[in-house]
Amino acid sequence: MSIERDLVSPEPEGDERLIEAALRPKRLDEFIGQGRVREQLSLVLESALRRSRPPDHVLMSGGPGLGKTTLAMIIAAELGAPLRMTSGPALERAGDLAAILSTLSEGEVLFVDEIHRMARPAEEMLYLAMEDFRVDIVVGKGPGATSIPLDIAPFTLVGATTRAGLLPAPLRDRFGFTAHMDFYEVDELERVLHRSARLLSVELPPEGAHEIARRSRGTPRIANRLLRRVRDFAEVRVEGVITRDVAAAALNLYEVDAEGLDRLDRAVLDALLRKFGGGPVGLSTLAVAVGEEPETVEVVAEPFLVRQGLLARTPRGRVATASAWMHLGLTPPPDAFGAGVIPGLLDGA
Ligand SMILES: Nc1ncnc2c1ncn2[C@@H]1O[C@H](COP(=O)(O)OP(=O)(O)OP(=O)(O)O)[C@@H](O)[C@H]1O
Ligand SMILES: [Mg+2]
Repeated sequence: MSIERDLVSPEPEGDERLIEAALRPKRLDEFIGQGRVREQLSLVLESALRRSRPPDHVLMSGGPGLGKTTLAMIIAAELGAPLRMTSGPALERAGDLAAILSTLSEGEVLFVDEIHRMARPAEEMLYLAMEDFRVDIVVGKGPGATSIPLDIAPFTLVGATTRAGLLPAPLRDRFGFTAHMDFYEVDELERVLHRSARLLSVELPPEGAHEIARRSRGTPRIANRLLRRVRDFAEVRVEGVITRDVAAAALNLYEVDAEGLDRLDRAVLDALLRKFGGGPVGLSTLAVAVGEEPETVEVVAEPFLVRQGLLARTPRGRVATASAWMHLGLTPPPDAFGAGVIPGLLDGA
């Protein structure tokens, strides 16, 4: 990525995966927020347990750092089933997938991360496996090739994707349950922070938690990361107590702004306002202006900007709202999108 990712990037950084593993909730009742998903999922799991059958295949869609991998592990734990993990890009050839499917044990949970990036032949093999618990193994090449059907153990597929829109319909339709993971509310992130603080033995007063939660871009991964940075700051500068002012000072030092916008978010807004007069401008043009892939702008930056009421997607392109002008300290033009509308109420239709 050309823009250096910083503190509030939703992607994991460096040795973060290890720390994340330690902070990951292990059971459904430890999983914070996403109330609807949690309730629906607990029904699916409970009824499967009662029938002693593997539950329907589960698809989880949502942005980076919102808890998809965590939830996949929880599903296996709640079912008391083993978990096999792979990812779309690792399944380049149908044979890669066949090797996994044919060695699954009954009831095993197969987690495929970034399932939208699976190669086509593997995808087609997966259709049959999901529906009939069967794979066709092709033996030989050319006109003499034959396919041998092979039964596989009933399993549960858990797929995760940041881009549900890219999944072909036949694949999407084979999931019995889709969990849409959304950004977290500030009070939910406060609970995430208190839980992590306990696990890390960090003293975290509620006002400090609130300040960190507010700037965490609606994302638990970012909340946990900011907590660690604020803790470092507090230990070195102020004898460990994370008051609101200490949290704010630490986050200012690390250039996390008051709304939790990261450098890419700000670059997108800045280009939209200063280069394109607030828009409308097409996604790819905007991406070129900030030196990023359109996918990165669309998946990483835009959902949060839309949610904050700073950017709207219109049929003619991306448009900055009046709040966006004000956020960058500029005066919105009188016809700015959403002028006179309460910020946050725009849904980016
Ligand atoms: N609901 C939650 N409650 C508590 N902690 C959470 C929750 N969701 C996520 N986390 C924390 O955030 C971290 C990141 O979550 P996770 O790895 O599951 O995200 P992801 O959606 O799989 O991200 P990616 O798209 O990058 O793979 C976890 O290590 C966990 O500590
Ligand atoms: Mg993940």
